[in-house]
Amino acid sequence: MSDPLHPVIRPRRLRSTPAMRRLVVETRVHPADLVLPMFIREGITEPVNIASMPGVQHHSLDSFERALVEAAEAGIGGVMLFGVPEQKDAVGSGAIDPEGILNVATRIAASAVGDALVVQTDLCLDEFTDHGHCGVLDAAGRVDNDASLLVYRDMALAQAAAGSQLVSLSGMMDGQVAAVRDVLDANGYTDTAVLAYAAKYASAFYGPFRDAVNSSLVGDRRSYQIEPANRREGLREVELDIAEGADVIMVKPAMSYLDVLAETAAISPVPVWAYQVSGEYAMIQAAAANGWIDRDRAIAESIVSIRRAGADVVLSYFAVEFAQMLQSEK
Ligand code: PBG
Repeated sequence: MSDPLHPVIRPRRLRSTPAMRRLVVETRVHPADLVLPMFIREGITEPVNIASMPGVQHHSLDSFERALVEAAEAGIGGVMLFGVPEQKDAVGSGAIDPEGILNVATRIAASAVGDALVVQTDLCLDEFTDHGHCGVLDAAGRVDNDASLLVYRDMALAQAAAGSQLVSLSGMMDGQVAAVRDVLDANGYTDTAVLAYAAKYASAFYGPFRDAVNSSLVGDRRSYQIEPANRREGLREVELDIAEGADVIMVKPAMSYLDVLAETAAISPVPVWAYQVSGEYAMIQAAAANGWIDRDRAIAESIVSIRRAGADVVLSYFAVEFAQMLQSEK
């Protein structure tokens, strides 16, 4: 007879000791599952702190090289590079110029740590345009999808030539994956992989990033990024990007979109990554700085939760620090 005061089934048995809890862990994060986003700024000789992202810096070329070595030593899987140019213009010329900051940084990274880390580059115009949009504008001031594709193609070639192993399309233009795959193949870059920010939502959590790239954006990106309320539309974007030949797809932001991430992971034949974005980072840093949450535990819990929901790899500004924490646990 079952006795309601003495349960037979006791899930707590598996939580009884640290060793038992360690043994029954379902999701583990390895340093190789982490990618560090990095900002390299043209024209500075010393790193500059980013106010809205405490602990993250604009790198000078020197501090960038040192940070790359640290990242490689921490054993993370790769770095995602963003350029912060001195000059911007309407068409984002700095993105295509081989001497533009992102292409210079890519060459440095490829030669310094290209064997140890996968060097990835943000393929989007917003850091390079004076209006701050992810594409070029038409006469009426709207983001012109097909004209932007032409610029993305040139940008992809410049990045591949500089040594990017994974060009990362974050602009949310229709057809961007097919357009870029085509031009890479036509120019012999068949081994350069394409990451598609497939389900990228128009999120308030990118706020600190816009500071980080000195964004000049007025208005918002709602005419190309997905409405936060839409799950089905996110999955449609994922399916389109896979059909266009994306090698890796991304869901972004991470924590507010774990449902989209889980559904994407359930159907995707290619790796699924997620981006713990600047606002997610800043919230943890701010709450921890006030003593309101335990910082190390919040970092670990946030990243393992994103993995648990289905991400194979997590992009995080905590990547190196968290990898070091994982290494010291061994
Ligand atoms: C676009 C891009 C953005 C981020 C990564 N790539 C900004 C945007 O879409 O507004 C956001 C990253 C973050 O918030 O950490 N180049």
